[in-house]
Amino acid sequence: MQLLDGKLISSQIKAEIKTEVDYWTSKGGKKPHLAAILVGNDGASETYVASKIRSCEEIGFTSTLLRFDSDVTEAELLGAVEQLNNDPDVDGFIVQLPLPKHITENTIMEAVHPAKDVDGFHPINVGRMCKGLPAYLSATPFGIIEMLKRADIETAGKHCVVIGRSQIVGLPMSILMQRNTYPGNCTVTICHSKTQNLKEICKSADILIVALGRPEFVTAEYVKEGAVVIDVGISRVPDASKKSGFAIKGDVNFQNVAPKASFITPVPGGVGLMTICGLLTNTLMAARKEIYK
Ligand code: GUN
Repeated sequence: MQLLDGKLISSQIKAEIKTEVDYWTSKGGKKPHLAAILVGNDGASETYVASKIRSCEEIGFTSTLLRFDSDVTEAELLGAVEQLNNDPDVDGFIVQLPLPKHITENTIMEAVHPAKDVDGFHPINVGRMCKGLPAYLSATPFGIIEMLKRADIETAGKHCVVIGRSQIVGLPMSILMQRNTYPGNCTVTICHSKTQNLKEICKSADILIVALGRPEFVTAEYVKEGAVVIDVGISRVPDASKKSGFAIKGDVNFQNVAPKASFITPVPGGVGLMTICGLLTNTLMAARKEIYK
């Protein structure tokens, strides 16, 4: 078994982006500027956004955090999105999800200008990705693709099973894995809450990507000997032995599955760190106007 070490790979990617930023600014380019909108005080969202902002500092990006109380109206949030759309200094921005129930997430995502949509959630970026056109790729699938690439994992002709059909992970992941390129060219199966024979389908996977949000759901009996196992889950489960009062668990029972896998991502220290690299790469591309001129 080989560990797909998100800590190591993400630190390499961040160093590469920093070199690019240094070169870009040495030629007179402006520092890439990422803005984030955070609504409410959800603990996990706070942690993710803080980590995104910290990463910006590390690699020489400018960052801005706009905070709103959880009772912010949709109109107020749309106003903030419009302001960022029109701010020439901001290259790209994200609205951290989930949003409070009274706000329609799709309405907010569609209000973000596609050229600044560094999360890759706007229908134009999703559509361009599906057609194989240059697009901002959703950060988590982007990070996973990069991990597969850097570990030189063979994908052509393999059976890739994705558990979960979310807009931000499962669905784009399935599209990317079937593309006629590397990594890609897989035969892809998407599984979801209504799937029958889930265990049997997973057992036929050469590459198993798990993104259903249920801690330690996948055990050894879901996994074929030698499979590549990618764990996208990040759940907080109560743990009195931790200072924070919780432990971070993936969707895969690591201890149980690792001996069977050829490659496996740990949680924490796996896909989560790669997601930030996807966002930073998209922001660098936005600053250099690589996709939208
Ligand atoms: N919530 C969970 N993952 C993400 C992400 O990649 N981007 C945003 N904006 N919110 C998220």
